[in-house]
Amino acid sequence: MKVAGSSISVFNQVYRSSIRLYSASTAQNALKNTSITAEEMSHFNALASSWWDVEGPQRILHKMNLLRMDFIHSTIRDHLKLNKPGTPIEDEIYIPPYGIDLLPKEIKTRIVAEQESRRNEILKKSSLKALDVGCGGGILSESLARLPFIGSVKGIDLSNEVLEAAKMHRKKDPFFTSMHPKKLQYELTAIEDLSKGENYDIITMFEMLEHVTYPAKVLEEALSRVKVGGWVFISTINRDFISWFTTIFMGEHVLRIVPVGTHNLEKYIDQTEIKDWIEKDHETPKSFKVMKSSGCIYLPAYGWKFTSNPDVGNYFMAIQRQS
Ligand SMILES: C[S@@+](CC[C@H](N)C(=O)[O-])C[C@H]1O[C@@H](n2cnc3c(N)ncnc32)[C@H](O)[C@@H]1O
Repeated sequence: MKVAGSSISVFNQVYRSSIRLYSASTAQNALKNTSITAEEMSHFNALASSWWDVEGPQRILHKMNLLRMDFIHSTIRDHLKLNKPGTPIEDEIYIPPYGIDLLPKEIKTRIVAEQESRRNEILKKSSLKALDVGCGGGILSESLARLPFIGSVKGIDLSNEVLEAAKMHRKKDPFFTSMHPKKLQYELTAIEDLSKGENYDIITMFEMLEHVTYPAKVLEEALSRVKVGGWVFISTINRDFISWFTTIFMGEHVLRIVPVGTHNLEKYIDQTEIKDWIEKDHETPKSFKVMKSSGCIYLPAYGWKFTSNPDVGNYFMAIQRQS
């Protein structure tokens, strides 16, 4: 059951109006398309001081962190190019042209071990540049920055208060203060105000698009800043009855695990809307591909769990730049 705008793509509607606004704002130096409303801003400001309380109002984000780190890590790992052009034939890793499960067990085990070892080698030499958009108090930014194959993370947000909470927390960890003092930086800026030519291997936008007025504009800014072969990872919420029931009715009003007023059903975006926009309607549709979408659900006695259906409730998505 679709709750709002089932036959019209709200995402596309929003996108079109953002284009209209964009021209107007450029002329008048007025509204920014990627800005946050005063209401959303005061909501997040109020949460800043308790952001890192793992049992506090943001506990649902803390609990989500392991699942999203798994999603990001496994997607990057699974899509590494194991044989770069020019690799001598004797150094090439064998990639069977058919399902590996059809091979005898011993051969399969050997192939998988070789592939895993090549993945480890590639990641060991990697130093990827990441941007965490709408980073809040830095729950995901910090975890990303701890990954050995990540060279640097920049977390950006429009709320000064949440960024202060992020900086305070960073100060408490010797990994960031003495071992890697430059690896994690925070900046109060809108994505569109990052300098032109500032490009990234990984851009993350978790639990953020459902809070912005023009999600497609924000997404477009992200796509324009990702390097070829790089990734944009997002998480947001389908606009359906299940989402309303789990995130608003149960989450906010019954179980009270999320502060009341955090979510607004009309701002939710179906994963098919994003997929269609990226792969069909976007200006350069062939340049980007949705490589993976996974549904996920919060179960109170368990935590976050992947589901088999990304079209219902919350979901994670991995978009890769192809050219
Ligand atoms: C629910 S929190 C998610 C924080 C973080 N991404 C996480 O998952 O741990 C949403 C954050 O997005 C920020 N935000 C909302 N609209 C934004 C925008 N247009 N540009 C940058 N940040 C924004 C808010 O200030 C808030 O910190």
